[in-house]
Amino acid sequence: MFITFEGIDCCGKSTQARMLAERLKQTGRDVILLREPGNTRLSEHVRAILLNKEFNEMNERTELLLFAASRAQLVAEVILPALDRDSVVICDRFYDSTTAYQGYGRQLPLEDIMHINRIATQDLVPDMTFFIDVSPELALERCRERFVSDRDRMEESGVRFYERVINGYMTLAQNERGRFFVVDGSNTPSDVHATVARLVQDRLPHMLNGFALHEAIEAVAA
Ligand SMILES: Nc1ncnc2c1ncn2[C@@H]1O[C@H](COP(=O)(O)OP(=O)(O)OP(=O)(O)O)[C@@H](O)[C@H]1O
Ligand SMILES: [Mg+2]
Repeated sequence: MFITFEGIDCCGKSTQARMLAERLKQTGRDVILLREPGNTRLSEHVRAILLNKEFNEMNERTELLLFAASRAQLVAEVILPALDRDSVVICDRFYDSTTAYQGYGRQLPLEDIMHINRIATQDLVPDMTFFIDVSPELALERCRERFVSDRDRMEESGVRFYERVINGYMTLAQNERGRFFVVDGSNTPSDVHATVARLVQDRLPHMLNGFALHEAIEAVAA
């Protein structure tokens, strides 16, 4: 089972990925929590290049290919072997981020991006993808300190850029209703988690045992 979390910077992806991983671990499953880019020796080196502000000459196509390179290694080295072992893999960002940021945000050709994504992932598609939907203003509010003290190239791109990214995610959600779920991220972390847990339960009843479902329903009601 392969579940991914998507959304703009500071929407709450890591928080939700962690909460779902913990819940699934409580059911006794082997759960692997990953975040992109990174998680292999090679991918971490690529991540360091992508986040290094000294490389302000980085071309947007270089950026696209570095994200893809990091992902290709992660899929081959970690994700596919884990899924073969029947582990649950939860990934904080995956190729939909590339489509939304580099495609819709930076407006690189979408067909090229989809092709590059397929090369990187060996055609692996998540079973469920949660788009944590918050406005750029709320995301900024949640990460105000980081925006001021530790800007990276993405965060400097401004609200209009983030609006394009959000529209991109919404288009993906429309086109891939079977796996893509838009979750209102403006609620408390535990409310958002309850919605995610309910969707996992609806979609994949074997994933959460009765106890976990009971808890999730209580959290929604609270
Ligand atoms: N539902 C929520 N309500 C209020 N604050 C939240 C919520 N979810 C997360 N936060 C807080 O907002 C900040 C960003 O959350 P988080 O790191 O999970 O986002 P992210 O999408 O992973 O960000 P990034 O894109 O930078 O990795 C954190 O300080 C977190 O504690
Ligand atoms: Mg995060």
